[in-house]
Amino acid sequence: MSPEVFAALIADAALSPNVHNIQPTIWRQIDATTVAAAQASRRTLPVGDPTGRDVEASHGAAVEGFILAASLRGMEMRVTAPEGSEIARLIVTGEVDPDPLASFLTARRTYRGRFLPDRAVPILDALAQTAPDLTILRERPDIDQVAHLNDQASLKSFRDARFRAELLAWMRLSRRHPSWAVDGLNARAMEMSGLEAAGAGVVLKPGMFEFLDRLGLAGALTGEAAVVQSSAAIALLRRPIGETPFETGRRWHRVWLEMTRLGLSAAPMTVLADDRAAAEALAARFGQPPGTKLVTAFRLGLVPESALPPPARRPVSDLIF
Ligand SMILES: Cc1cc2nc3c(=O)[nH]c(=O)nc-3n(C[C@H](O)[C@H](O)[C@H](O)COP(=O)(O)O)c2cc1C
Repeated sequence: MSPEVFAALIADAALSPNVHNIQPTIWRQIDATTVAAAQASRRTLPVGDPTGRDVEASHGAAVEGFILAASLRGMEMRVTAPEGSEIARLIVTGEVDPDPLASFLTARRTYRGRFLPDRAVPILDALAQTAPDLTILRERPDIDQVAHLNDQASLKSFRDARFRAELLAWMRLSRRHPSWAVDGLNARAMEMSGLEAAGAGVVLKPGMFEFLDRLGLAGALTGEAAVVQSSAAIALLRRPIGETPFETGRRWHRVWLEMTRLGLSAAPMTVLADDRAAAEALAARFGQPPGTKLVTAFRLGLVPESALPPPARRPVSDLIF
């Protein structure tokens, strides 16, 4: 693999979904057929992701992205054991036809706005067929219940001042922020107007949030029930309890690309899996296959392509170690 091809593969893999868009994965070419992936320093979330599970899932998603991008260029790649502090090594094992999901790598986005009213029935039927690890909820009372649980669980996390501070550090609330188009969550990706973004900056500050919470206003400010209720469906992703977060991340990426391939837009609501009360309520209402755990819940629907936010990503030169 030439340095040019290596750089092109990194650029594609960088578009993989990753927690808070912190882009934790960096790459090195070891030789003509071997690539190493590693953890970028300081790109972790000690408060929101204390065990590193979401960061590891992000590495898995990025490695899957790299393998898909390689398939587009006719290369078959396989994950092998890491060396030293690496996360994984990838080796070229031969030639291969492009993976059918690979061409959607650059089109997939997180969409956090309201969906069109179309219920996307045939598309959701097709998704249910292709992804046996997804449980698709389409009844209005079920979606309302998910919206309610999501708001309850989110408010709980927002009540932790350290969580808010960490999140705020990764938010880019103004286009003047030097990292607006580079990393983290910008106002455009969060579907906030300029005014809403300025407001969020104030509301999330220490003191102000507690003040609004005492007035009973914090829930209204952190809630997103109306957006969730506009979904055509919620898809619960359940994976085996013993699966490593890295492998879960690989699957997470593929399942999302399957949604993109079918023309669906999506946003994960991982707090529903993190919050024990929410996860238990979902298991009680919708059942839970034995030996599996909830990984995330996607809200899904249709939206015009022009509504999707442009990706914010670090330059390839910053992703090589
Ligand atoms: C492990 C993991 C957890 C995520 N959790 C959430 C979430 O709870 N809410 C959300 O809006 N996006 C979530 N995302 C999506 C990321 O924020 C998104 O992939 C990232 O900001 C990059 O943007 P893009 O998907 O548009 O490329 C998650 C992604 C990953 C990989």
